[in-house]
Amino acid sequence: MCGIVAYKGYKNCYPILLNGLHRLEYRGYDSAGVACLTKHGKLSITKKSGKVKHLEQLLKNKDIIQDCRGSGIAHTRWATHGKPNQINSHPHKDQSGDIVLVHNGIIENYDPIKKFLQSKKVKFKSETDTEVLVQLIGYFFQNVKLDFQQSVRAALQRVDGAYGIVVLNKKSPDMMIAARKGSPLVLGIKDKEFFVGSDISPIVKHTQNIIYLEDAQMAIIDGNDYKITSIDKDVSLPKKVEKIDYKIDDYDKGKFKFFMHKEIHEQIETINNTIKGRVNKDGILLQGLFKYWPAIKRADKIFITACGTSWHAGLIGKNLIERFAEVPVHVEYASEFRYNKTLVDNNSVVIAISQSGETADTLAAIHKANEAGAITVGICNVPGSSVSRETNCGVFTRCGHEVGVASTKAFTAQITVLYLLALKLGRSRNLLTKNSVKAHLDYKNAIKKVKLVLRKELDIKKIALKYKNASDFLYLGRGLNFPVALEGALKLKEISYIHAEGYPAAEMKHGPIALVDEDMPNVFIVPKDKTYDKIISNIEEIKSRKGKIIIITDSRDKILKNLANDLILIPKTNHYMFVVLATIVLQLFAYYIAVSKKINVDQPRNLAKSVTVE
Ligand code: F6R
Repeated sequence: MCGIVAYKGYKNCYPILLNGLHRLEYRGYDSAGVACLTKHGKLSITKKSGKVKHLEQLLKNKDIIQDCRGSGIAHTRWATHGKPNQINSHPHKDQSGDIVLVHNGIIENYDPIKKFLQSKKVKFKSETDTEVLVQLIGYFFQNVKLDFQQSVRAALQRVDGAYGIVVLNKKSPDMMIAARKGSPLVLGIKDKEFFVGSDISPIVKHTQNIIYLEDAQMAIIDGNDYKITSIDKDVSLPKKVEKIDYKIDDYDKGKFKFFMHKEIHEQIETINNTIKGRVNKDGILLQGLFKYWPAIKRADKIFITACGTSWHAGLIGKNLIERFAEVPVHVEYASEFRYNKTLVDNNSVVIAISQSGETADTLAAIHKANEAGAITVGICNVPGSSVSRETNCGVFTRCGHEVGVASTKAFTAQITVLYLLALKLGRSRNLLTKNSVKAHLDYKNAIKKVKLVLRKELDIKKIALKYKNASDFLYLGRGLNFPVALEGALKLKEISYIHAEGYPAAEMKHGPIALVDEDMPNVFIVPKDKTYDKIISNIEEIKSRKGKIIIITDSRDKILKNLANDLILIPKTNHYMFVVLATIVLQLFAYYIAVSKKINVDQPRNLAKSVTVE
């Protein structure tokens, strides 16, 4: 989703901002723009719909790159209000053309403010809510004659909604102002240089000294100095500079054409990294939960909240925690959790799962749980992200930067963390013996099995290509594998644009079976477990209606072979590992269908990696 990078210092800002925009590309966007204060005291704004490389090309042609005074702001836009075109892309300026702004988030009361400004003869160029904010700042600066800082403050005090903004004013060329409410913003400091980012990815290359702006805070950079204040009052607050130990390797696809493909293959290491150091002869160590463990292990009800793929991991977590630790778990979409009457109180444990750590709904759910006095636990992939800072405690999935918009390695790492957590809870509640925990955690063997599944890639590709022209798919699984079905369907939808639905296999009779005909592929996930015979009946029901049957199983039974149009055999393993292996098959299956349709699977249409608005 939208990304911000800004620079204030003595260097030419363009290379820094363009590099930053590339770093932000993974978030998903449809246009990009940059504004820079020139040596001649002007503001130069360049915007383009499409990719950052198109903006770069435009800048080269304009030959304005050399004309930079040292301050600039840049943005990748993911359209919310108004079409994804050049006019609506950021930066936006006020009517006088003196003030320029980039914005992440949504200004909810833009309509009455726009009407007010129109009554003062302000003319609007774009359809965006963002232009309303910069015009309001301009109104206070030009009409009310407040100074720059006061104008930004006055405008922000009048807007509702979420924002992370950076503003420049050519009449105050030494100043850059950043502020946030709802949307995250990070300030990087290096001697006489300052960097602002919507996350640390465009900044870490330059400095590891970071201030995570807190909600409703402003950073005012003036010359070589800066202060942090609240939006309400111009009173300096403590500067909480943190030294972060987080490197983002140069994006490198290695031998792979797409990051998604690389990330699917990385699961051998990422699952290993997520477990490594957390399991020893005495059991499972989750250091990040240490302080809160006595309360967590006593919980009599657990809530899990998340969005999208992370929510699917939550459903698997529920199954594992209820199975091993016998605690009831309620899983709720974060977007529902934040508004529903949820029975969270100060005896509750709320687990929030998020790859990016910046998903707006998940953060709002965490705030609600914190306010209710619950213990909040983050399962998150990005150290320093809002989820990791705003939960009481947590466990990191250690899978490194996930660039592909469709989550792959983060999902299997999330279920790995949930597996460790469920086993640790089961052990702490005396429901599992030390030896049974040990037996579950034969992960070296498990990693070998991931390798074996990846070796089946060409077979999976062959099968995927047979079905690439289908217009609808059903994914069916039971128990732990129902969320796997949901995740398989989501992967196919988001990267191939084919309609797909996941269902508990037996539920299919209650409606979806009406869709089945000889053109419809049905992907069954079939472990040899206690529901095996039942799921065979479900397959028969589809078969007798001529549906195409694709089976993923660890069973060599002839019966399955006879029922399947295509069958992918995965190695025998435990329940948790079956889920991981079946997921990897489904990731590859979706990947090959999408690639055969020539879709850029790393940045599928309309999707954003980090969903920072509600
Ligand atoms: C799907 C996908 C999304 C995310 C969702 C939550 O492949 O990536 O559904 O899972 O937007 O994002 P995080 O986990 O960053 O909170």
